[in-house]
Amino acid sequence: MGRRVEKEKVLFTENQIQVRVGELASAVANDYESLMLVGILNGAFMLTSDLAKNLSKQGLNNLEIDFMRVESYGKGKVSSRAPKITSDLKLPIEGKNILIVEDIADTGYSLEHLFEFLSTRDPLSLAILALLSKEERREVRVPIKYRGFDIPDKFVFGYGIDAGEKGRQLPYIAYKTG
Ligand code: IMP
Ligand code: MG
Repeated sequence: MGRRVEKEKVLFTENQIQVRVGELASAVANDYESLMLVGILNGAFMLTSDLAKNLSKQGLNNLEIDFMRVESYGKGKVSSRAPKITSDLKLPIEGKNILIVEDIADTGYSLEHLFEFLSTRDPLSLAILALLSKEERREVRVPIKYRGFDIPDKFVFGYGIDAGEKGRQLPYIAYKTG
């Protein structure tokens, strides 16, 4: 009766993530002269931070940063399909270029809900950046303007993303095997 040993498989190394975030930042910096990042907590905290630093290096310094919380899963791994906004922005977005910064687009319900919610506040433009996208899991279409990586249907963690509130601190992205 040995304890089952859980192994992890690294999907993206720290270096791969840093390179991709740099590429995303140059695409974003090309498209905007001023921008407000809306980081979605908690999963996008590292991504928002790295993106902001890279945008600065790319010369986009007319930048504001704020955060929101959207809860879709509760404690489980299954989307509720009825996401709730549990923490709103502090800054106004009317007349500004807004980029939603999200860790993962899974079913798409969270991003769809957020997009509609923020649209009603009359931003000048509204777009989505998602580091990871699980295309085969998508149930509603969401307009992702900047996408880091397409990933298979695995439950991943690391680089801000949690598995049961664990693993956010990891500089890489992995999933459990075995
Ligand atoms: P959606 O509404 O189904 O698209 O859910 C998106 C949210 O679910 C993401 O922002 C994540 O917080 C969470 N999520 C989706 N897939 C994973 C995963 O593989 N690991 C951890 N969280 C995930
Ligand atoms: Mg999330």
